[in-house]
Amino acid sequence: MPKPHGGKLINRRVKKESLGTNGLSKLEINTNLSEDILNIAHGVFSPLEGFLCNNDLENVVAEKRLADDTPWAIPILLDFDKNDLNGIKAGDSVILTNKENGVRALLNVDEIYTYDKKTLAQAIYRTQDTNHPGVANVYNMKQNLIGGKISLIASKTREYDQYNLTPKETRILFKEKGWREIVAFQTRNPPHIGHEYVQKTALTFVDGLFINPIIGKKKSGDFRDDVILSSYEALMKHYYLKDRAVMSILRTSMKYAGPREAIHHAIMRKNFGCTHFIVGRDHAGVGNYYGPYDAHDIFSEFPDLHIIPVFFRSFSRCTKCGSVVNDKICPHDPKDHINFSGKKIRELLRNGEIPPEDMMRKEVAEMILKFKNPFVE
Ligand code: ADX
Repeated sequence: MPKPHGGKLINRRVKKESLGTNGLSKLEINTNLSEDILNIAHGVFSPLEGFLCNNDLENVVAEKRLADDTPWAIPILLDFDKNDLNGIKAGDSVILTNKENGVRALLNVDEIYTYDKKTLAQAIYRTQDTNHPGVANVYNMKQNLIGGKISLIASKTREYDQYNLTPKETRILFKEKGWREIVAFQTRNPPHIGHEYVQKTALTFVDGLFINPIIGKKKSGDFRDDVILSSYEALMKHYYLKDRAVMSILRTSMKYAGPREAIHHAIMRKNFGCTHFIVGRDHAGVGNYYGPYDAHDIFSEFPDLHIIPVFFRSFSRCTKCGSVVNDKICPHDPKDHINFSGKKIRELLRNGEIPPEDMMRKEVAEMILKFKNPFVE
């Protein structure tokens, strides 16, 4: 099993009694930020122990690495309005809370600083176009950032927590299963045949498959979290071997940052104990902002990532071959290929229609259609 990113699995969960928190100022933070706290505390973002300070942010923006040269592509930032700060300054401690997931965490403020949104957007998303959902999020961020370590004091049990394994737990699970090589699959969608093909092809070469859907803030028109989970349950029940595939969720927001996000996705899965990471067509992309294989190319910048990317060219169904193919294995004209188009599948489902079985498994489509509205508003 690979070592966690940066060498050790971070654990920033503490017992309340061990911290003197009486009399500290409290700040209510949004659910996205509190998910970041949970991910830091449980080691999903190892080696981060808190929100980035300016030297790390500048290095991530310019070099895709933390100040100590560890690969890191997506900055984890805590943004605040000056008014919220209530006189808080570097050296102070603050309690961060969130009602929805019951997060209560201590933040040691190392630095309060500002940043340039255009530079940040351009570096991370390769565009400043506010039609890009990630760029829009950056432009909606507050103007000040706080860097500093966090300690998680409390959080509450939530929906789907039976699927919410920490890196410590997945590492134990993989060991129990006797898996030495594990390939991780990132997703934000219910599975179509192309997804299944990518997963099973990769699984052929390793011991186990770790299906790790992102649960959290997505853009309007994406599938809802409960739909993604139920549709995977249906797929796994009918078409996967129990001792070869497990599913666990990853609570974090999609950034749609294409290549940079692929690196971030790989790092998180390395922390979960995976040795391989699947990167297919237009990984974590949106619209036409990235080339279909930009998320493959970026891995050449990281010979020191220590998780093996497994690249896939776009799969489609070839009517002449009568099977699932890509441009490395099929000699026929692209006209003979039917793409696994997420857009087409969504259109059909929106009209209450079952997509053709060579695009999506019947059991998966039927499960999705059980939901009154399967899409994020
Ligand atoms: S993503 O935003 O999480 O990348 P999605 O859930 O659709 O979106 O994709 C999950 C993974 O499957 C990504 O690595 C993506 O590149 C890959 N993928 C999706 N469709 C195909 C396809 N037809 N051929 C090859 N890879 C694919």
